[in-house]
Amino acid sequence: MTRLRFGLAGVGAGAKNLLTGFGQSELVKLAAAADVRPEALAALNRQFGARTYSSVEEMCRDPDLDVIWVATPNPFHAEHAIAALNHGKHVIVSKPMAVTLDQCEAMNAAAERNGRYLLAGHSQAMAAPIRKMAELVASGEYGRLAMVHTWHYTDWFYRPRLPDELDEARGGGVVFRQSPHQVDIVRAICGGEMVDSVSASTFRLDADRPGTGAYTAFLRFAGGAAATLAYSGYGRFNAAEITFGQGRARTAVVRGRSGSEEELALKESSRYTGSDALPVTHGQPFFGLTVASCERADIRQSPNGLYVYDESGQSEITLPPDEQRGEAEFQEMHEAVVHGRPLTHSGRWGQRTHEVTLAIVESARLGHEVRLSKPTAAI
Ligand SMILES: NC(=O)c1ccc[n+]([C@@H]2O[C@H](COP(=O)([O-])OP(=O)(O)OC[C@H]3O[C@@H](n4cnc5c(N)ncnc54)[C@H](O)[C@@H]3O)[C@@H](O)[C@H]2O)c1
Repeated sequence: MTRLRFGLAGVGAGAKNLLTGFGQSELVKLAAAADVRPEALAALNRQFGARTYSSVEEMCRDPDLDVIWVATPNPFHAEHAIAALNHGKHVIVSKPMAVTLDQCEAMNAAAERNGRYLLAGHSQAMAAPIRKMAELVASGEYGRLAMVHTWHYTDWFYRPRLPDELDEARGGGVVFRQSPHQVDIVRAICGGEMVDSVSASTFRLDADRPGTGAYTAFLRFAGGAAATLAYSGYGRFNAAEITFGQGRARTAVVRGRSGSEEELALKESSRYTGSDALPVTHGQPFFGLTVASCERADIRQSPNGLYVYDESGQSEITLPPDEQRGEAEFQEMHEAVVHGRPLTHSGRWGQRTHEVTLAIVESARLGHEVRLSKPTAAI
């Protein structure tokens, strides 16, 4: 089996979620990492034997790497992905793909110009239950898809954050950071159909901690299906209560304006340092409640996979548990690079998801529906 040699750009809080997957996957090897935190690099070298670089650009010149996973802060995604593509590497970029649409376009142009794969990843739509839900809907067994609802309630807004992470102009706040998961989920279940229009409201519910912490959106798809997204990061109701206790968010810890020394210290301790045990996924991954309604059935996640509710009642489809974060992206990239199979979650897919994310912000600002006028293809 050809193992793809990966370089990880940015070994922070999000990247930490991927390291167990890197350690366990038979498809990849974590061969190098770049970060501006020397202590994280030293730990990664000890734990994985990875070569280390103090700049992403320098890592991209390493000839013994096939793929760069970009997990640096959002404002750097375009710069780091384009550097990697220009050095002939394939790229996986963590969500959100970038901050602006121009950046997405430049990233896709770089992938196309260099003949390299760009995968928009680290998205909860790649979780096995969502992939299976999309597959069941696409099979047509339950008739036409009517609507999808995906609702999540977490304490995202009160976890330790750098000031940029709550600043919408820098790709922060819950719309930029969390809607890519939900938009990807409903787009996947709708078979990648074009989103025609978006109507949304966003909310800033804590005057002492500026930033967008909640939103809701209504999406109309070209084929007639519709979806709602709801997200609150204010840490009150926890969606785990309605998802069988699974997918529980971390405990809220920070109040007040972001940027205090205490918050920065907490943020640092949430990142990879090599000192904590790596997070291991147990059971099925949940990102709140997702329900798909077709002509003849409703489908939602169950503790072991999916529940299908149809005229014969409720039945459960079990799925293998414990797939680690990153493995779905590794498989998709491996299929593309080794077997030439086109990516599903390509950079063009990611760009279309980002159009919807930006339309949520725009619709909320304008106070009315936003039509996505660009003709978008199936993915
Ligand atoms: N899908 C998920 O589950 C998930 C979870 C968290 C974060 N993320 C994504 O991961 C990305 C990073 O977020 P985070 O919470 O890990 O932030 P973070 O600040 O904890 O991590 C970013 C890392 O990049 C490093 N870095 C910063 N600037 C750099 C530069 N110029 N060159 C090299 N390294 C640099 C930092 O030192 C840090 O280690 C974001 O895009 C975020 O949306 C995804």
